[in-house]
Amino acid sequence: ASLREFLRCLPKCEHHMHLEGALSPQLLFELAAKNNTTLPQDDAAFKSPEALLERYRRFTSLDDFLHYYYIGMSVLITHSDFEALAWDYFRHAKADGVAHAELFFDPQAHTARGVGYSTAVAGFDAACKRAEKELGITSILTTCFLRHLPVEDSLAAFDAEDVQESYVSGVVKGIGLDSSENGYAPEGFKELFAKARHQGLNLTTHAGEEGPVSYIASALDNLRVRRIDHGIKLVYDEHLMKRIASENIMLTVCPLSNVVLRCVNTIKDVPIRKLLNAGVKFSINSDDPAYFRGYILDNYLAVQDAFGLSVEEWEGIVRAGINGSWCGEDRKTILL
Ligand code: ADE
Ligand code: ZN
Repeated sequence: ASLREFLRCLPKCEHHMHLEGALSPQLLFELAAKNNTTLPQDDAAFKSPEALLERYRRFTSLDDFLHYYYIGMSVLITHSDFEALAWDYFRHAKADGVAHAELFFDPQAHTARGVGYSTAVAGFDAACKRAEKELGITSILTTCFLRHLPVEDSLAAFDAEDVQESYVSGVVKGIGLDSSENGYAPEGFKELFAKARHQGLNLTTHAGEEGPVSYIASALDNLRVRRIDHGIKLVYDEHLMKRIASENIMLTVCPLSNVVLRCVNTIKDVPIRKLLNAGVKFSINSDDPAYFRGYILDNYLAVQDAFGLSVEEWEGIVRAGINGSWCGEDRKTILL
């Protein structure tokens, strides 16, 4: 119990959490009822929240999960739906001792359904502001672009007036790449990332989750990111691992996600010890907590259970997470 309390009290920063991935089966069914959303009739998983949760225990791959993830978000329609979703996350974050959260969302997945970008952002932003005021949690919103769609779609989404307005106003502060990985190499999105970099936005991308380690190198060289989401395949390239350590690139590792999506067999196969030994900076994150049955503290506890880290090692991980955050120096000083 005291170990849990120690981990809970650490000033944790979360860098890899998809807001749409915080949609619990409970809230999904509530919003579906309110919005008259038609859920798939031919899939028994959608009979009840319990059946859906049960189906979430049997994901076979990233794409098998993404199928449910994209159906799930079809219940998000109004400003208040997006706000309720983010608020649900923040309540869990508070209970788990999160100090600062950098949160992904998928604009293209909403605009493709006819839900306005501004509706999603305004709802999320309202929850972020309330979380800072009422819970003391600071946060940053990041637009993720979907790599399984044509590159031209992401460029058009990035250039859209309301999206650009959210960057200029500072409501959204970064971009990332997510969705299916294999076959969608980072270099295809070079132009998108160059544009974002010239606008001064923070940059990150999923790489080396299910896909090959070469995608990590491509993300550094072609997208010029200074952060990699997941990146667990890094341990297959000794040379690249040294480079990432020396260039102070941070990985946002998501242990429970990796097990549930079968990127590794068990938590022990998440390369926590190898990364520590190589001096690679990383944070520990929940990815899609409502789908993977664990928020950030569950991920910390799973890592502790598998690796038995020392107090000093935990403090080092948390410090790296603060230093690797996109918040201002003043906020970092408070957290350190
Ligand atoms: N979208 C939401 N979660 C994701 C993940 N773990 N990998 C890729 N895309 C995602
Ligand atoms: Zn992710």
